[in-house]
Amino acid sequence: MKKIAILTTLVFAMFAANSSFAQTVVKKTTKKTTVVKKTTPAAGKVSAATLEEGKQLLAKNDCLSCHKEDVKIVGPAYKDVAKKYPATAVNYEKLTQKVIAGGSGVWGDVPMAAHPSVPPADVKKMVQYILSLK
Ligand code: HEC
Repeated sequence: MKKIAILTTLVFAMFAANSSFAQTVVKKTTKKTTVVKKTTPAAGKVSAATLEEGKQLLAKNDCLSCHKEDVKIVGPAYKDVAKKYPATAVNYEKLTQKVIAGGSGVWGDVPMAAHPSVPPADVKKMVQYILSLK
C-alpha cells in the first residue's frame, strides 16, 4: 500500500510539475512584445533655427570676405562646396576641422586662413548651413 501511495504522489508531482511547465511555456509564447519606435532624427538633419544661426555666423565672421554663396571669389562658392559634400555628420565634422585649421589643396593652391578662435560649435553650424545650399 505504501508503495502505491508513493507512486501516486510521484505521478501527481510529475503531473503538477508538467502542467506548471506547460503554463510557463504558454505564458512565454503569449507574452506581448511591444515595439518601441525610436524617433531619433536622421544623421544629416538640421533644424531651420540652426541653419539660420549658421547663416548669421558666416556674416559675423570673416567668411564672406573670401566666399560667396554662388560665385567663387578667393574661396570656392558655398554651393559648390555643398555639391561636393553630402550633408552628413561625417562631413560636418571633417569641414569643421578644416575651417578651424585652415589649409589648401582641395580647391586649388590658395590657402584658407585658420580660424582657431572661432568656437567649434559655431563653425559646425556654419558648415551645416553651407551644406544645406543645394
Ligand atoms: C582668406 C580667405 C578665406 C576666408 C576668410 C575663409 N575661407 Fe573658407 N576657403 C578659402 C579657400 C582658399 C578655400 C579652398 C581651400 C582648399 O582648396 O583646400 C576654402 C575652403 C572652404 C571650405 C571647403 C573646405 C574643403 O576642404 O573642401 C569651407 C567649408 C569653407 N572654406 C568655409 C569657410 C568658413 C565657414 C569661413 C569663416 C569662418 C571661411 N571659410 C573663411 C578661403 C577662405
